[in-house]
Amino acid sequence: MTIDIDHIRADFPILADTINGKPLVYLDSANSSHKPQSVIDAMSTFMAHQYSPTNRSAYFLAAQATEMYEGARTKVAKFINARHAHEVVFTKNATESLNLVARAWGAANLSTGDAIVLTHMEHHANIVPWQMLAAEKGFTIRWVPLTADGLLDLSHIDQLLDGAKAFSFTSMSNVLGTINPVKELVSLAHRHGAIAIVDGCQSVPHMPTDVQDWDADFLAFSSHKMLGPTGIGMLWGKESLLDAMPPFLGGGNMIADVTLNGFTCAELPAKFEAGTQPIVEAVGLSAAVDYLNAIGMHNVRQHEMEISRYALDTLTQRFGEDIVIHGSKNVEVRGATFSFAFRDVHPHDISQVLDQHNVCVRAGHHCAKPLMRLLGAHATARASFYLYNTTDEVDALCDALTETGEFFTL
Ligand code: ALA
Repeated sequence: MTIDIDHIRADFPILADTINGKPLVYLDSANSSHKPQSVIDAMSTFMAHQYSPTNRSAYFLAAQATEMYEGARTKVAKFINARHAHEVVFTKNATESLNLVARAWGAANLSTGDAIVLTHMEHHANIVPWQMLAAEKGFTIRWVPLTADGLLDLSHIDQLLDGAKAFSFTSMSNVLGTINPVKELVSLAHRHGAIAIVDGCQSVPHMPTDVQDWDADFLAFSSHKMLGPTGIGMLWGKESLLDAMPPFLGGGNMIADVTLNGFTCAELPAKFEAGTQPIVEAVGLSAAVDYLNAIGMHNVRQHEMEISRYALDTLTQRFGEDIVIHGSKNVEVRGATFSFAFRDVHPHDISQVLDQHNVCVRAGHHCAKPLMRLLGAHATARASFYLYNTTDEVDALCDALTETGEFFTL
């Protein structure tokens, strides 16, 4: 093991809990991750002893809370190697971040006759906002297809990007686990004059991120999948693009001035942060980033590659043709998220039997219905692993699947 797994597990109080006397085997971190004690403590200490609204008042508590809120932004900016902290905008979640790009950048830059490019492996948050806007503006959406092993099929990418204004794609599929070659995709987009928007929900929590090395234009990601609380997401964007965009939501904090005839916008990042900010959540997120930095994102990725190798080998050895694992079998190009079909058992039935053993997997369409259709499935069961999961938990999944098989043979 590359990381001290026992030490890490001891930091997550919920992992020591039992349900009906049995330990919890949490394999749903692609959906939302658990939180270490340091995140829980940071939030509760802040609420108990330091809480104050930010950016509005001059008293000590307000200045301290503002410093903590802005400190979280600086930390996030460093975590993804952004050039400036003010290029990081706090939103409600990654879905809102992608809606912000569509509504603010898209509405100002896309019209009839234009085209944007998405991929068949996007989840709904990177499809529906564009479809909503396309219905108003009349631009077309082109789709990058997939290869048989769940990678992007780039054989016609030049044709697809020809004349396109934006290429928006996930850095890692939440269904197939596929890790996309972000730097190459950004460079392809730029070669065709399109901007590159990266949906980083699934990759940012699990591996190093460097937006300057990618040369991406926007990156959306969320706190709750990277050990932080719900209620706060991030949009990073290049300063020049964010500056040129109209605001998204209107209200307090995003204005420089308001008269009866109109308003002027605040500077970045306030321009995109209308209303009271997610202050407590930013404090928790800041502690989550500290936690991940202390372990090191290279180590997180290494650990998950080891788990992935073990999971692929063990599931295949134990179940042979009874299991179909979607996506690539090469751990270099996939993360530790495994969608699978098990015999002809419905994914919801699988999930219910696994739940009797406290093995938590997600069953359903994973908010990626177009991809489900491509796989010829209404739903899949999905086991997703994180830095706190162990190979013993892969075995627990396999044991519970064996029982699922026995149950549905009766
Ligand atoms: N949060 C969603 C998932 O579970 C999209 O993958």
